[in-house]
Amino acid sequence: MNVILAESAGFCFGVERAVNTVKEQILAQDNLPEEQRLPIYTYGSIIHNKHVVKDFEDKGVKVIESIEELQEIKKGVVIIRSHGVEKKIYDIMEQNHVTCVDATCPFVKRIHTIVHTESEKGVHIIIVGNDGHPEVEGIKGWAVNRPVVVGTAQEAESFDGDPALEYCIVSQTTFQNDKFQDIVAIFCEKGYNVNVVNTICNATHERQEEACKISEKADIMIVIGDPNSSNSRKLYEICRKECERTYFIQTLDDLHLELPDSAKTVGITAGASTPNNIIEEVQSYVRRNF
Ligand code: F3S
Repeated sequence: MNVILAESAGFCFGVERAVNTVKEQILAQDNLPEEQRLPIYTYGSIIHNKHVVKDFEDKGVKVIESIEELQEIKKGVVIIRSHGVEKKIYDIMEQNHVTCVDATCPFVKRIHTIVHTESEKGVHIIIVGNDGHPEVEGIKGWAVNRPVVVGTAQEAESFDGDPALEYCIVSQTTFQNDKFQDIVAIFCEKGYNVNVVNTICNATHERQEEACKISEKADIMIVIGDPNSSNSRKLYEICRKECERTYFIQTLDDLHLELPDSAKTVGITAGASTPNNIIEEVQSYVRRNF
């Protein structure tokens, strides 16, 4: 069996950085005398991977699930994950004198800066992305006016703006590039005054392209990722288009692989929040058993 593992499978730069930040904070607190140690929190799960989160919880890291919970915390270290958060979260931490360790991915931070600066100038913000996704919620929270979120071509078609206003279009970092281009084209065709900043992250784009190429030649495709991770689900969608037999699994335990006799090539890729050890386990299982 020919097994092709995508080079871009697994943690992206931003997620790796966030996970390492948690590890560093655990180490830093462990090195302090007990009476000086502070509790460590992450604002939301640090990544969409329950195994990694559980491992950190076992080391004492607590996950804050809501603003209300954050408001109750008066002492500790709060780590912001790579998705980033709205401005008001920083404000609450400052008011409560809680130490903020910011692991927002620099690429997401760049979007916050654009949105904040442009909206302060009176430009209206359009975010191409999935409304409700934590990254999009974070981005929304940096606009001083009311941003609009557009997730589909239909939504772009029905957008009823003012041609006399200035708009700035940014995208969720994990949005699909072709869908983004389609949406932008609609705004341009409708004659809106738009300044387009493509803020899709290359890591996602490269992972998607590579997954697409591998799944074109694979008889079986395995996508490893958490069902709650939008980039993993998108990866699955892309692979499924090219390769009918695409499996979406979280860990090796979910893999019940049935290979037809004609199958010669198995492709493997993984979402941005899949740790290396899980990818390795799946890869060596397939290599050993087929
Ligand atoms: Fe950052 Fe791109 Fe990952 S925006 S978190 S490096 S997908």
